[in-house]
Amino acid sequence: MKKRVGIEALAVAVPSRYVDIEDLARARGVDPAKYTAGLGAREMAVTDPGEDTVALAATAAARLIRQQDVDPSRIGMLVVGTETGIDHSKPVASHVQGLLKLPRTMRTYDTQHACYGGTAGLMAAVEWIASGAGAGKVAVVVCSDIARYGLNTAGEPTQGGGAVALLVSEQPDLLAMDVGLNGVCSMDVYDFWRPVGRREALVDGHYSITCYLEALSGAYRGWREKALAAGLVRWSDALPGEQLARIAYHVPFCKMARKAHTQLRLCDLEDAADAAASTPESREAQAKSAASYDAQVATSLGLNSRIGNVYTASLYLALAGLLQHEAGALAGQRIGLLSYGSGCAAEFYSGTVGEKAAERMAKADLEAVLARRERVSIEEYERLMKLPADAPEAVAPSPGAFRLTEIRDHRRQYAEGN
Ligand code: CAA
Repeated sequence: MKKRVGIEALAVAVPSRYVDIEDLARARGVDPAKYTAGLGAREMAVTDPGEDTVALAATAAARLIRQQDVDPSRIGMLVVGTETGIDHSKPVASHVQGLLKLPRTMRTYDTQHACYGGTAGLMAAVEWIASGAGAGKVAVVVCSDIARYGLNTAGEPTQGGGAVALLVSEQPDLLAMDVGLNGVCSMDVYDFWRPVGRREALVDGHYSITCYLEALSGAYRGWREKALAAGLVRWSDALPGEQLARIAYHVPFCKMARKAHTQLRLCDLEDAADAAASTPESREAQAKSAASYDAQVATSLGLNSRIGNVYTASLYLALAGLLQHEAGALAGQRIGLLSYGSGCAAEFYSGTVGEKAAERMAKADLEAVLARRERVSIEEYERLMKLPADAPEAVAPSPGAFRLTEIRDHRRQYAEGN
């Protein structure tokens, strides 16, 4: 019998500060509706140099282990997906291993392909367990990133930061994955990149949206072909994509999920047997269905709209946001997930929400994680953005959170709050 493999539990770590997106709009002389209605944002997480990628990853992983009572000796693999790593050689994963005093008997490494890096790590973990190579051990996959474009740039309102830690095992209480049904699409493009040594990403913003949608189409069609063959979906009155209870997308900004969903529906409408009977305009109008977006996508965006882009973790924040509100109602139902990383690579996959998902999500206590944040002024946000990355301010870490305290002889020192 095929093993059941997938995500057993998750934990989220967010920076301790945020700005209200309307404050940012006013400070930039922009109509606030552009950021709220136009981009779909409400708040944006703000990091300081003490809250680096390692600190956020370690906080999320420690929280996962503590909240879900994970026995560290059962972890055989610790992978960090990130595109904002802090060293060309030493992985974030080995910092996390050291900070959490995890045993030596595990693989530790980072995975990188822009925002797709976390999914690359997740698939390595899932396939490691499904193949039997894990021999009963579990994997922890952490997606940790700081999205930074810089002050007064078009990307500024789409910044953010945080981490999501995923426990991957043969007890997929959150999501039992349809292993092997993934659809993938990758292309060599310059839509978003960050040359070595630069703190801020370079981005061809509108082109990056085009690349996302093109890669989504290839990945979704790849998944759909396999899902049709496996009998998970079929061509009927309801489009194949409509037969998924919900779809969580990579969310660089919330409006992107709406664009992505329209594109996915367009793929189905264009490929349906009766497509010749409709015009491109009527298909486009049908693809934009607000009812479909409200039913399948809207509930997943609560956390993303309050945190902003978290690159590798954005899709998993959408999954967390969805399950935070709908885990009970979705138990036993199949959902779809779309990961996108610039450069670029996309992967569409599916899985079934577990019966114990609501219980697991209650332990993650996401409302409390967000409630502990402090709202800061635009002046304070700008001051934090201008601090040098290698000189963290002396601030005591909050209980259970890690902070970078100093860099001594090129060695990073961290402290955990009691
Ligand atoms: N009221 C309401 N809506 C308004 C408005 C107003 N006053 N003014 C503008 N808008 C709407 C626009 O119509 C537009 O909506 P549509 O896209 O639906 O037409 C939206 O607000 C944004 O307006 P613009 O396109 O004019 O915004 P912009 O050019 O300033 O920048 C952006 C938008 C390109 C997304 C920019 O923020 C950016 O470069 N962000 C970073 C790149 C990014 O997130 N790319 C996403 C795909 S790549 C990826 O997914 C990987 C990753 O994580 C980075």
